[in-house]
Amino acid sequence: MKLKIAVLAGDGIGPEISAQGVAVMSAVCDKFGHEVSYEQALCGAAAIDATGDPFPEETLRICRHADAVLFSAVGDPKYDNDPTAPVRPEQGLLAMRKQLGLFANIRPVETFDCLVHKSPLREELVKGADFICIRELTGGMYFGEKLEGNERAYDTNAYTRKEVARILKVAYEYARRRRKHLTVVDKANVLASSRLWRRVAQEMAPLYPDVTTDYMYVDNAAMRMIQEPRFFDVMVTENTFGDILTDEGSCITGSMGLLPSASTGESTPVFEPIHGSWPQARGLNIANPLAQILSVAMLFEHFGLQEEGALVRRAVNASLDAHVRTPEIQVEGGEKYGTREVGEWIVSWIRKN
Ligand code: IPM
Ligand code: MN
Repeated sequence: MKLKIAVLAGDGIGPEISAQGVAVMSAVCDKFGHEVSYEQALCGAAAIDATGDPFPEETLRICRHADAVLFSAVGDPKYDNDPTAPVRPEQGLLAMRKQLGLFANIRPVETFDCLVHKSPLREELVKGADFICIRELTGGMYFGEKLEGNERAYDTNAYTRKEVARILKVAYEYARRRRKHLTVVDKANVLASSRLWRRVAQEMAPLYPDVTTDYMYVDNAAMRMIQEPRFFDVMVTENTFGDILTDEGSCITGSMGLLPSASTGESTPVFEPIHGSWPQARGLNIANPLAQILSVAMLFEHFGLQEEGALVRRAVNASLDAHVRTPEIQVEGGEKYGTREVGEWIVSWIRKN
């Protein structure tokens, strides 16, 4: 297979983890005889510094012409505490989502048995937790009508039936391939937009008789996720709720540095870690590259390259078992490996196995 990949490394630790994702991708493609090519493009603060625009035209063009985007992270503290900044790095990510029509964000929350003790939750609660959060990504408050005044400001949480139905369809299809349990998360006791979600979901549920659908208010879902994470199989929710719940989900597993995601929709799909740019760690070679590397596994699987994806996953598991780990997940007394060293170990494991 020929694969043309747009590489958007972004800011902070982005370039360091990106390099490891690319190296792993190349090693797997080598092994299976796929022809892969990369084109780097600017995004986020790096793009603002170079062009004034967090998602320049040229980057959009490169993404549109690629088969997939391997994205890392954006964000820079120099913008965080300045509410008057005219452009922010995050707008680059939002522009990418909107312009590529990436309405479905797939965020798996998987636990690794050897790391459950790192979870802030009790081991017996976390062990075996395995669910997917499907987050709507191009609607809701992120993109609704806004007013940013000095005395009054608002963001509108608007959804159309079409937007709700298409993300629910994605969620049902995932549920069908998994344990056939879908939880629709909303705030239908308060929000009109949520009541539309629930109405559409209730209309669609009979079309998927093999799937059990349940409905849960978001506040309750936030609680259930930490009380009984194994309850969930597939959950689907709107943009803002999904943003919040997936950060919560990521810490269940013990490290934010482990969870990849895929965003799909109308144009080129994007694969990225769910964590941010961790600017304090930039250049220190301490960031965990596994979420980025697992994003590469999701990329392969998206194109039906299951064996390639499985090889990446086995390599990641092998590195964890061999205690080749970055500092935040290393066992007591274990040697602390850098971003680069973990990536290199995984690449050489892939070559040998
Ligand atoms: C995420 C991030 C983004 C979001 C930010 C960086 C705009 O938190 O991908 O979850 O809020 O969607
Ligand atoms: Mn987020």
